[in-house]
Amino acid sequence: MIVFVAKETQNSETRVAASPDTVKKLISHGCAVSIEKGAGELSKITDDAFKAAGATIADAKAASKADVVLKVLRPTHAEAKKYKKSAIVLASMDPYGNEKDIEVMAKAGISAFAMEFMPRITRAQVMDVLSSQANLAGYQAVVEGAAHYSRALPMMMTAAGTVAAAKCFVMGAGVAGLQAIATARRLGAVVTATDVRPAAKEQVESLGAKFVAVEDDEFKQAETAGGYAKEMSDEYKAKQAELVASHIAKQDIVITTALIPGRPAPRLITKEMVKSMQAGSVLVDLAVERGGNVEGAKAGEVAKIGDVSILGYLNMPGRIAASASLLYAKNLLAFLETMIDKESGKLELDFEDELVAATLLTHDGKVVHPNFTDAPPAKKQVTPKKASTKSSGAAK
Ligand code: NAI
Repeated sequence: MIVFVAKETQNSETRVAASPDTVKKLISHGCAVSIEKGAGELSKITDDAFKAAGATIADAKAASKADVVLKVLRPTHAEAKKYKKSAIVLASMDPYGNEKDIEVMAKAGISAFAMEFMPRITRAQVMDVLSSQANLAGYQAVVEGAAHYSRALPMMMTAAGTVAAAKCFVMGAGVAGLQAIATARRLGAVVTATDVRPAAKEQVESLGAKFVAVEDDEFKQAETAGGYAKEMSDEYKAKQAELVASHIAKQDIVITTALIPGRPAPRLITKEMVKSMQAGSVLVDLAVERGGNVEGAKAGEVAKIGDVSILGYLNMPGRIAASASLLYAKNLLAFLETMIDKESGKLELDFEDELVAATLLTHDGKVVHPNFTDAPPAKKQVTPKKASTKSSGAAK
């Protein structure tokens, strides 16, 4: 079985879908691994490191011989057409709004798996690309915010005077938000956080941050059975805005991560609120790819309102690519291992497996995922959402 690891060609993607460790593991399962020349370069994995792990370095044409293609972003039309019919392709497919590209993959005859649709169940935790990448995005958001902030984060008492601790506010305490809280605390900031899910309160407090939220009856029921946030009523939004407006004026760094599956990101911060912050303050909008939590945030740019910066970087995990690639590669390996027969070393797709059912987009020349066909959604289907692993529009 030949596994090909592609060099990413779009959206300045910096990550790669394999690491020397995952290459060794694949070889131990009897696979031959070929890595496209320079695929790991931007993730600080050299061709030599891949070679030392047992891979061969190949050019892009080698993709046509592969039984399995590992990618970060969805293949382009040209790439998909070059793959062997029946090849398995694992990537963050970003399928919503990109249905034409899904059709192209179907017509190419490949079995395309959307890693971001992986069910969030215990067995699949090791395959959860949303979590592995959001965790690093939360960390990196604080690092980028701190780099743009004109002052120090920790309180410092020196002979020349005292530097006050920075105040950091994290909005949305899911995977990215919790890591942002932990990172800001490590850097010495005084951290507050908010969320609409009651379960987040205890998690925020366990990290040593103060929870700030409108805790009314609607809040108590704001979590779906799947653990995600619901869209809140206009009345709740108004109360939340009032609370945020008074809180934000006193904050130095604000990290926003709020998302609702299948909906645009909720707008939590208005221009007026940004203007109320002191000069030199920084906002980092991790939801910018889904419309943004902060009014005035611009995708891919550092926007300014007065002397306050709004960081709208796309693909935050790609800004810490060497770490992000290692975890992403492990996510892919873990899923691929479930498809390799231990005795024969051959690929065996089990269509009854809930992981396969939840993630398989195209197979045998057709689009097969229930969210993209007229068929009713499969029973075990989790609510998929766009991943935070992506770079931007095209292929994520
Ligand atoms: P997400 O990326 O969908 O959203 C980020 C956060 O924004 C969430 O905490 C959400 O409640 C919050 N949010 C939404 N609207 C908001 C608003 N108007 N104001 C403030 N905050 C708002 O969430 P993520 O990080 O994917 O996590 C979702 C849930 O899944 C969490 O409960 C998490 O603990 C759980 N999870 C479970 C895993 C498992 O394996 N069982 C793995 C990863 C996450």
